[in-house]
Amino acid sequence: MHEIIIGRSPEDFKKYGTKGTGVMGKHFVGEKKDAYLTNPVRIDLARPHIIGIFGKRGTGKSHTLGVIAEELALLPDEISTNMACVIIDPMGIYWSMKNPNERDRNLLSKWGLKPTSFKVQVLVPEGQAKHFRENEIPYDKTFAMRPSELDSGAWALTFGIEPDTEIGILLEKTIKVINAHMPSYDIQDIIEIIKKIEAPHVAKQGLINRFSLAHDWGIFSSTGTSIRDIAVPGKITVLDISQFGLASGGWSVRSLVVALIARKILEERIKSRRLEELHDMEGGGFGTNYMPFTWMLIDEAHQFLPNDGLTVASGPLLQWVKIGREPGVSLVLATQMPYKLHNEAISQCDLVITHRLTSRNDIEALANIMQSYMRYGIPEYFDRLPREKGSALILDDNSERLYEIRMRPRMSWHAGGSPIAIND
Ligand SMILES: Nc1ncnc2c1ncn2[C@@H]1O[C@H](COP(=O)(O)OP(=O)(O)O)[C@@H](O)[C@H]1O
Ligand SMILES: [Mg+2]
Repeated sequence: MHEIIIGRSPEDFKKYGTKGTGVMGKHFVGEKKDAYLTNPVRIDLARPHIIGIFGKRGTGKSHTLGVIAEELALLPDEISTNMACVIIDPMGIYWSMKNPNERDRNLLSKWGLKPTSFKVQVLVPEGQAKHFRENEIPYDKTFAMRPSELDSGAWALTFGIEPDTEIGILLEKTIKVINAHMPSYDIQDIIEIIKKIEAPHVAKQGLINRFSLAHDWGIFSSTGTSIRDIAVPGKITVLDISQFGLASGGWSVRSLVVALIARKILEERIKSRRLEELHDMEGGGFGTNYMPFTWMLIDEAHQFLPNDGLTVASGPLLQWVKIGREPGVSLVLATQMPYKLHNEAISQCDLVITHRLTSRNDIEALANIMQSYMRYGIPEYFDRLPREKGSALILDDNSERLYEIRMRPRMSWHAGGSPIAIND
């Protein structure tokens, strides 16, 4: 059967065939309810990509993101040992990948698939472990970040502090002083330094309050978790960052986590890439102790990389978008509002999987990338799509092709969607 592989160049296809690809779904032919499914649609997972997953609420974005994670996990060992997958989970829904999708056993069997559990490791913030236990939310390990990895600019963005205000100046001074005196420190150490610096009382109190709040987020420790325990070869890591209340500026804390992780992974990959090149020149394969090629899958991505304004994660994520291909990092950005996602991220997507969109702004955001190879306008394409869940358009910028597809069902349990008050 003729297989469609999106994101793979003809040269790679000639050399590797379907090796290092995953099945996303099947191609639709025809329109609306007369549409029928034909060939499998595969996606290249062996090369770095920037993938956008769009669609309005409840159309299957988080589900699709999970399919990509499953396919990464299903790659044969010889490929997956070079790869890591990190899911940024702001909704706390991906822990359920540990459970087989018994709910859709019949549907899966029509696709020749079986309910399957996946060995994901779920990490939760160190200071929230008790909360997770008390609420019976399963997790495997905790993670923490080192405050010393943040410069004053990152703290300012996180706290929403303007650099040239009294408090901004005090912040800068504090970080400078502490970095000069302590190789590693925790939030309490920062607070002690603020107390010692001479500055207006209001600014001091304001800054101390903010750092006390940061302490309560439960994501900091002076030692921190090594990035090697987060991006692990052959493993899917779910970072559950769902439990930050709105009161403590939930999204700015989540952005901080993403910022630090994204920056670290990219730095380590750049170092490892150099070693790999050296190795290649000497004729060897991959050596040991290299940072794996890493996929980062981010749900609700517009919160971290908005088009309007900056978060502390904006800089590091834009780095991935701009230079990630060379060191071999891949980004999957899922959002219900593509027009709210940074336009550079949208324009750099080489693959877009979009479920139905209706708002004009969102459709326009898409139109900017796909115009050149479209037969119809985007609203017509969406109109042709069958109404079933999981229907989507896939745009492949590499081959300049557009496909109408039905995403495959999940093999592992999908904890998203909307609950219903009726007991089956
Ligand atoms: N390909 C699919 N096949 C079957 N059901 C799907 C598919 N994609 C999504 N669904 C169902 O649709 C609902 C919404 O999906 P979800 O991914 O949570 O939406 P959102 O776009 O809001 O992230 C879920 O109940 C999910 O199980
Ligand atoms: Mg979702």
